[in-house]
Amino acid sequence: MKKYSVAVVGATGMVGQRFLGLLSSHPWFTVTAVLASGRSAGKLYREAVEGRWAMPFPIPDLIGGLTVLDAERDAETLVGKVDLVFCAVNMEKEKLKALEERYARLELPVVSNNSAHRATPDVPMVIPEVNPEHLAVIPYQRKRLGVKRGFIAVKSNCSLQSYVPLLHPLRKFGLGRVAVCTYQAISGAGKTFARMPEIVDNIIPYIGGEEEKSEREPLKIWGTLDGGQIRPASSPVITAQCLRVPVSDGHTAAVFASFEKKPQREEILSAWKNYKGLPQELQLPSAPKQFIHYFDEADRPQAKLDRDVEGGMAISAGRLREDSVFDVRFIGLSHNTLRGAAGGAVLLAELLAAEKYI
Ligand SMILES: NC(=O)c1ccc[n+]([C@@H]2O[C@H](COP(=O)([O-])OP(=O)(O)OC[C@H]3O[C@@H](n4cnc5c(N)ncnc54)[C@H](OP(=O)(O)O)[C@@H]3O)[C@@H](O)[C@H]2O)c1
Repeated sequence: MKKYSVAVVGATGMVGQRFLGLLSSHPWFTVTAVLASGRSAGKLYREAVEGRWAMPFPIPDLIGGLTVLDAERDAETLVGKVDLVFCAVNMEKEKLKALEERYARLELPVVSNNSAHRATPDVPMVIPEVNPEHLAVIPYQRKRLGVKRGFIAVKSNCSLQSYVPLLHPLRKFGLGRVAVCTYQAISGAGKTFARMPEIVDNIIPYIGGEEEKSEREPLKIWGTLDGGQIRPASSPVITAQCLRVPVSDGHTAAVFASFEKKPQREEILSAWKNYKGLPQELQLPSAPKQFIHYFDEADRPQAKLDRDVEGGMAISAGRLREDSVFDVRFIGLSHNTLRGAAGGAVLLAELLAAEKYI
């Protein structure tokens, strides 16, 4: 496999730091450029993250000595030097939309963690095991942008990863109504306990914009390619509540679901156990071998114990049982900065490379 040079935009942030950890030993991708805001630009990477390195591993040696570039001012300098741009930036939505489109128009493929383009109809929003067929919209997007190689592909919101992958294999039973309550880790807000003291001994029942994303984004993921755009599915109906909880990493979801044809418990367990996606078939480097891990123990999955299953890339499930209002209820868990952010984006990039979009 060819080695690809990649840039990480937002490299100093929580997701950016995760990217650098995953990419420092990646068999296909090598980080050759790191970009952030004007506040960090011009500094060596190790200086730019001094006092805010939040990962449980040291700054990768080769990255620490790179000079941080300005994501806006230095975009052109990447042309001809990198094959792919990973983007995870905290910026105002319209500015971010324009920035990502600028990279794409410079013929740079962008794999984004940001929400700015998730609703753009010709931008695929892909969970590689769930809707890889949506990548077929890329040629239409390229036509609109007037480019040959550039494009934008996005990941969905991190909260979704703890329930959409579990609902997906159950859609064959006619998924009708879903209620979900997510219990989201502080790294999802780019925070550590030191930087978010208000969360200690507390639960904050509001995460701006999160409930709307948790209800709307699954419908695009389950949508169909039609006339050069992704048309969102009209069902299931989803209602979501999202809470911030005092957990460092790992989003948990309490899920309730009803079906047209109520499945038996064994049918659900079998659908989860046997579900494989394209990443497993293609044996992509970051793909978990077993996508969904079901725990029989009544007190699992737990964020602290189970978020790192298969390198933080698998989805965990447990406590499947009948419900008195909906048909069934269960618990889901996924690692928000791995599967839910940097890891999910790296897996998407691997799929894009394997399918010759990069
Ligand atoms: N954390 C998660 O679990 C998670 C999951 C899924 C998606 N996301 C999304 O990923 C993105 C980044 O999240 P995060 O948690 O990593 O945030 P973060 O820790 O606050 O990091 C933000 C990054 O954006 C950069 N930045 C800010 N303003 C900029 C500007 N004007 N131009 C260029 N770069 C700028 C920062 O650079 P400086 O250091 O120079 O300020 C930093 O590298 C967000 O869109 C978020 O919604 C996060």
